[in-house]
Amino acid sequence: MQIFGVDIGGSGIKGAPVDLDRGDLAHERFKVLTPHPATPDAVADGVKEVVDQFGWRGPVGITFPGVVTGGATIRTAANVDKAWIDVDAGVLLGERLGGLPVTMVNDADAAGVAEVEFGAGRDRRGTVILLTFGTGIGSAVFVDGVLVPNTELGHLELGGHEAEKRASTKAKDDHELSWEHWARRVTKYLAHVEMLFSPELFIIGGGVSRKAQKFLPLIEGIRAEIVPAQLQNNAGIVGAAMRAAKA
Ligand code: BGC
Repeated sequence: MQIFGVDIGGSGIKGAPVDLDRGDLAHERFKVLTPHPATPDAVADGVKEVVDQFGWRGPVGITFPGVVTGGATIRTAANVDKAWIDVDAGVLLGERLGGLPVTMVNDADAAGVAEVEFGAGRDRRGTVILLTFGTGIGSAVFVDGVLVPNTELGHLELGGHEAEKRASTKAKDDHELSWEHWARRVTKYLAHVEMLFSPELFIIGGGVSRKAQKFLPLIEGIRAEIVPAQLQNNAGIVGAAMRAAKA
């Protein structure tokens, strides 16, 4: 079965039909640049452009970088335009897509759902936590493969700061941190999350997972196993489609 998946990110809006049996894209994905400011209206146009590219006429799963409740309502917008807060994105995007059924899901939750089914978290029991490092830090917490949605662990306070302001890859870039310096911050963050949840496994996602060999060896003193995500850039698209299939 195929369902369309869209990933709304800070730099791009990407999408493709997803083959749900294989957990992979059925066609090469299409991407448009995220408009700035990323208002609901402007982003909706971008999503439409991506979906229209494939002439898609079925259900669509869409990620959002904030809390999503009730299957479609946006509740927070830490790194996108605040006009999104309290928008029923299911209604807004569904209408823009000419009435297609739309399911919204937090971006990290979508990536986690895909990794747990098809990637680094496959067949893993107990507590598994996927953390995405990018513009912010996203989290997806699983217990025996079941997601606890909207955990928002990127906003934990660490040494008087919001963790994602210190340890996201944006923080690394903005403050020109070396891999060693950034890895120390990530280590402190992981130690804090481990103290709270004692997971069996951490999966490190986001674009930086491609450079895992540069920083994973620098992370020491964490009891849980730490592995890079496997689906990398497509995890959000795949996970969004998986959520839409269950809606
Ligand atoms: C948001 C999360 C999101 C993460 C990654 C955070 O600032 O609050 O909802 O998952 O960034 O995009």
